[in-house]
Amino acid sequence: MSPARPPIRVVCCIGAGYVGGPTMAVIADRCPQIQVTVVDLNAERIAAWNHDDLSLLPIYEPGLDAVVGRARGRNLHFSTEVDAAIAAADMVFLSVNTPTKTRGVGAGQASDLRWIEASARQVAVAARGHTIVVEKSTLPVRTAEAVKAILAAAQGDGHGGKTFSVLSNPEFLAEGTAIGDLEAPDRVLIGGEDDAAIEALVGIYSHWVPESRILRTNLWSSELSKLTANAFLAQRISSINSIAALCEATGADVREVARAIGSDSRLGSRFLQAGPGFGGSCFQKDILNLVYLCRHYGLEAVASYWEQVVSLNSWQQHRIASKVVQSLFGTLTGKRLAVLGFAFKADTNDTRESPAIRICQDLIEEGAQLAIVDAKVEVAQIALDLEQAPLEAAAGAALAGEGGWLPSASALEAARGADAVLILTEWAAYRQLDWVAIAALMRRPAWLFDARAIADAEAARAAGLTVWRVGEG
Ligand code: NAD
Ligand code: UGA
Repeated sequence: MSPARPPIRVVCCIGAGYVGGPTMAVIADRCPQIQVTVVDLNAERIAAWNHDDLSLLPIYEPGLDAVVGRARGRNLHFSTEVDAAIAAADMVFLSVNTPTKTRGVGAGQASDLRWIEASARQVAVAARGHTIVVEKSTLPVRTAEAVKAILAAAQGDGHGGKTFSVLSNPEFLAEGTAIGDLEAPDRVLIGGEDDAAIEALVGIYSHWVPESRILRTNLWSSELSKLTANAFLAQRISSINSIAALCEATGADVREVARAIGSDSRLGSRFLQAGPGFGGSCFQKDILNLVYLCRHYGLEAVASYWEQVVSLNSWQQHRIASKVVQSLFGTLTGKRLAVLGFAFKADTNDTRESPAIRICQDLIEEGAQLAIVDAKVEVAQIALDLEQAPLEAAAGAALAGEGGWLPSASALEAARGADAVLILTEWAAYRQLDWVAIAALMRRPAWLFDARAIADAEAARAAGLTVWRVGEG
């Protein structure tokens, strides 16, 4: 066992993204005696974190502005001075992106670890004295081995006797509820081999997390638990979406089935919401990473088992687009569709892997003209995701027959002249739409395709729309 060390006074986090920003804001808020600096190479992102107007933080997350407002400038800092922040820190969190590799060995499945490697190398060079390095990013099991090897090479480089301990502390927050998840986590997971380092990190969380919720494991269990948690959550969504398709074919209702099975305490009621398939930056990438690892270790049957969760998800997205095409007499050319919601879920501005991307691409490919509205997603982001600029308004009005899209400011504006309304994100506002007003603006016959099953279907039907809801037979 290593000797006890003084409590952590200075923390650095590399990566000011959806995880680094909110996680460090909550640590700073709950531990006023610890100085926390979040660093990033992206100067624009850091400038946004430092913006005087808290409504202009780089990510939208309910409650984040209040937490940042309390701690920023006191013991929470955002900076591009990466080396200086590392040098000053007792503990460095690595919270950089780990997307799927797009080329080379493992392309399409393995995690691209170039950012984790680069940040580990930077810590190796810039650290001073003893530094605890914490993997916060989601990583393939046994990544800590590579991080340790990079750091070990620096231990003997003659720069003032630096030493390192490596911990795994994966993050389980979900976007849209990140602040609540961080302030009252179901559990905090810490994997490591150095007891003193583990207890130093426990010392931070124990400021607000009960001891019974802090789990200690070995490094590899911790890394693997994160991938496994996301795989199990995503598997539930693919499972309920597969049953939704069967409900539509048989006259059952997936919400009734979900309630019936969710009442079994062994199954539980959460994560049984059928929809357009899971999106977000992590479920798909983490499962594909698990699949890659299984193949790497020769476990082909296990790999193909998990691969199916992702295939079913893609199938569900294409299925919804096909449903729209079939219902609108097999062609979308010259038709206008109001698309409500583009974020991958409500209460975030994140569109990474949003089901809306694939569904909208399919519809545009069929010649549809989409009027897209989202409360938080910027027009430029939609253009990037759809890989095409918005149509000129005039060309849009001409309904030229070419597929394309236009941004819309409101559901009402999007519905003007539309043949169908398509709900893709469960923003609260879409639960209370004025269907009489919307129907009056639409071309007849008019449809509502509710891929989230959140709209008032009765009101829409009463207003004259033909309604399709995911999972309703
Ligand atoms: P992100 O892309 O929003 O943020 C990562 C940031 O790291 C970027 O701003 C990037 O510029 C910065 N960065 C990369 N390399 C750097 C370097 N060498 N030095 C300084 N900055 C560097 O990613 P994210 O959504 O915050 O995810 C980060 C990790 O957390 C991923 O591994 C992800 O799987 C995991 N995770 C994400 C979520 C989520 O809800 N988004 C939840 C749990 C875990
Ligand atoms: C998910 C996990 O919930 C987090 O625990 C994890 O930390 C995170 O991934 C991560 O590693 O990045 P997140 O992707 O932010 O969080 O959001 P979720 O609430 O899990 O939703 C993911 C997707 O599944 C969304 O597209 C959502 O609409 C969809 N979903 C969720 C359903 O279709 N049905 C459900 O019942 C639940």
